Amino acid sequence: MAIIEIKNLVKNYGEQEVLKDISFSIKQGEIVSIIGPSGSGKSTCLRCINHLESYQQGDILYQGINTNTKGFDISKYRSEVTMIFQNFNLFNHLSVIENCVIGQVEVLKRNKKEAIEIAYTNLKKVGLENLTDKNVNQLSGGQQQRVAIARALSMNPKVLLLDEPTSALDPQMVDEVLEVIQNLATTGITMVIVTHEMRFARNISNRIIFMKDGNIIEQNDPQTLFTHPQELETQSFLKQFID
Ligand SMILES: Nc1ncnc2c1ncn2[C@@H]1O[C@H](COP(=O)(O)OP(=O)(O)OP(=O)(O)O)[C@@H](O)[C@H]1O
Ligand SMILES: [Mg+2]
Repeated sequence: MAIIEIKNLVKNYGEQEVLKDISFSIKQGEIVSIIGPSGSGKSTCLRCINHLESYQQGDILYQGINTNTKGFDISKYRSEVTMIFQNFNLFNHLSVIENCVIGQVEVLKRNKKEAIEIAYTNLKKVGLENLTDKNVNQLSGGQQQRVAIARALSMNPKVLLLDEPTSALDPQMVDEVLEVIQNLATTGITMVIVTHEMRFARNISNRIIFMKDGNIIEQNDPQTLFTHPQELETQSFLKQFID
């Protein structure tokens, strides 16, 4: 069954049509990467799914329920369908552990003791159990992104939306974050990843969606999409990554 279903989504910024009637669905446990040139609408698509952007037409269904239904609980939805941003979006004045506790207490109404235990477990998963009391702005980019991942996991999400999780990082920190995401992939969580890291997308994904100019041009399993792209636009996009 589809955990997320996008039906005929149209998004405009003023005159510019950024998503041109796109439809796709994500199955429970599936790992889907969205690739495509800059400006093709990848981030906009994730932001619409996370309800950070409104849209002009179409529907986004979560577990069969239209997320635009009156009374739909957006904060609860965002705790289940959680976004990881390129620039981490941490609370910079708070410590590592506090970043991972605040949402649990405020949105999920967990008591603080339980929230701290859950945060600690997740910080351990991303290798940060020794930095829990540091202020996040004392950490490297790779460490900060791992805090963001631990914070997301502490909400027990069903779906992680990752928008270029490594593109703001210095090259030497990319691998530590990709490794954490790769490990998560084995836990059965559903993920939608926007990435320019083709090798990573190929290794981690069950399916790749190629977007260009607000359209889905082609989607397929990674092996087929990377070795036998059907559409000319996909072929010419992928050419630049051949080394
Ligand atoms: N807040 C905004 N206001 C106006 N136009 C926007 C806004 N955000 C994005 N756009 C435009 O929408 C189009 C799609 O942008 P989007 O950020 O979704 O692309 P992308 O595929 O994520 O690109 P990149 O790979 O560079 O991150 C672009 O032409 C962009 O300029
Ligand atoms: Mg983007």
